[in-house]
Amino acid sequence: MDWGMKNRISRIIKPKTGKTVMLAVDHGYFLGPTTGLEEPRDVIKQLVPFADSLMLTRGLLRTVVDPANDTPIVLRVSGANSIIGDDLSNEAITVSVEDAIRLNVSAVALSIYVGGKYEHQTLKNLATIISECEGYGIPVLAVTAVGKEMARDAKYLSLACRIAAELGAHIVKTYYCEDFEKVVKSCPVPVVIAGGKKISEKDALELAFNAIRDGASGVDMGRNIFQSKDPVGMIKAVRSIVHEKVTAEKAFETLKI
Ligand code: R5P
Repeated sequence: MDWGMKNRISRIIKPKTGKTVMLAVDHGYFLGPTTGLEEPRDVIKQLVPFADSLMLTRGLLRTVVDPANDTPIVLRVSGANSIIGDDLSNEAITVSVEDAIRLNVSAVALSIYVGGKYEHQTLKNLATIISECEGYGIPVLAVTAVGKEMARDAKYLSLACRIAAELGAHIVKTYYCEDFEKVVKSCPVPVVIAGGKKISEKDALELAFNAIRDGASGVDMGRNIFQSKDPVGMIKAVRSIVHEKVTAEKAFETLKI
């Protein structure tokens, strides 16, 4: 792995702890004005100081994030689908590597739908973007999107994560599940977890704690942070779990809810 690639990865996964708190605000790419992100500028502004990286789309980055902000950017480069469309797995590559470089991103992110109707297309998208990004030392985060018909269990998620890593993804984002340590052990690159749909703050913090305990390199969390009644408190609480091994109970006590 070359210097640039290693340097960009270390901007995301902090060398001091080997962990990361990524803030995901890319939901609008297929969900439109997601609850909590209807007017994203202020939400992002108040949360970004506590995020190790910010995951979002090109459009949001250019319109709501101050270019003077120095938080590493993980740019979503797949999409062209919508929640009301034919099939969510019908994704394309939506950003050129040249534009990602122009936007000075630290990594790009792309979804794959293993077992989905357009599985092959999304895996080809991943392979293509990795091959292009390798030439510029840009890491690729593969997001294992799970279709409604798929079970979010260790067997399925291990399959999806391992395929992403075998195609060359540098980081894989997936969901937490029972026997999660099996998913991590069979994936040769760092695994981070998505938060998923909004659950209680207590449960979301427990999810983060369990994922780190079971070997995750961090979280790439969105709705459970920006839809919380105390979003700033929530991201700080998640940070304390991920970077300082604070228990979910102790982290919960710090929330103003
Ligand atoms: C999918 O819509 C995106 O990749 C999100 O970034 C991802 O699902 C993480 O966000 P959340 O924690 O809200 O699931």
